[in-house]
Amino acid sequence: MDIERIRNEQRHFDVVADHEGFSWWGVGTPAGKLRTERRAGFVRDALGPAPEKIILEIGCGSGEITPYLSGHFKLVVGVDVSFGLLKKFNSRLSGTAAAGVLADGERLPFKERSFDGICGNNILHHLELDIILPVCARYLKPGGRLAFAEPNLMNPQNWIENKTFVRKYRPYSPDEMPFTRWHAVNKLARHGFRNARVRPFDFLHPSTPTGLIPAVSALGRMLEWFPPTREIAGSMIISAQAPETM
Ligand SMILES: C[S@@+](CC[C@H](N)C(=O)[O-])C[C@H]1O[C@@H](n2cnc3c(N)ncnc32)[C@H](O)[C@@H]1O
Repeated sequence: MDIERIRNEQRHFDVVADHEGFSWWGVGTPAGKLRTERRAGFVRDALGPAPEKIILEIGCGSGEITPYLSGHFKLVVGVDVSFGLLKKFNSRLSGTAAAGVLADGERLPFKERSFDGICGNNILHHLELDIILPVCARYLKPGGRLAFAEPNLMNPQNWIENKTFVRKYRPYSPDEMPFTRWHAVNKLARHGFRNARVRPFDFLHPSTPTGLIPAVSALGRMLEWFPPTREIAGSMIISAQAPETM
């Protein structure tokens, strides 16, 4: 386990919690809110909503997608390494069927096979897939589902911001790195997940002016529908089913 990577994440996101508040990822703008709502809807659908399910959200942060999940499941347990973001999570989600726990997603303080679903928003690219996917396999109940919304490295903005000198000027944590959908599919297969599906989506940038949102959303749906342009969408939804148990 790479303790230094986890400490880096903790330091980085505690600073985010102190100084940037809820607008850090552009989620505070009207387009950003719509984007988050759509991502959360895809995650929820991929988990297969059912009122009796217990869901684990890894890297829950301040709970951007959690309000869209909590009413649909019996309980959403969020884990995060940032105490500052978790405090925001717990005050934002107070009175709902969600609870935030300070824990490393790669070393979970729960009983194995406890969760019907494991999900997250913008978290897998902060972790090592070869570590977190076997952890998910161990903590999912048989037949449980995995659903993550992640940035798509094939998107030109994501690529330039992460793979060129521009990264130096972006407020990213030191070890985070988006990946491609082929990378995700290969890793899921390597770790035994079944029915893996990774679908790029999202052309609505959070900074889109309010008046342009309907037009940009409509154009985005067309670009998502057409396979060559879909590949460069900003986000991707990753879903799969737990490996067969021995
Ligand atoms: C990009 S933020 C996303 C936060 C939240 N999911 C959202 O949608 O706003 C990544 C989050 O992952 C958390 N994180 C990073 N490494 C982690 C780990 N090993 N275990 C649990 N959480 C982790 C960070 O503290 C941060 O809150």
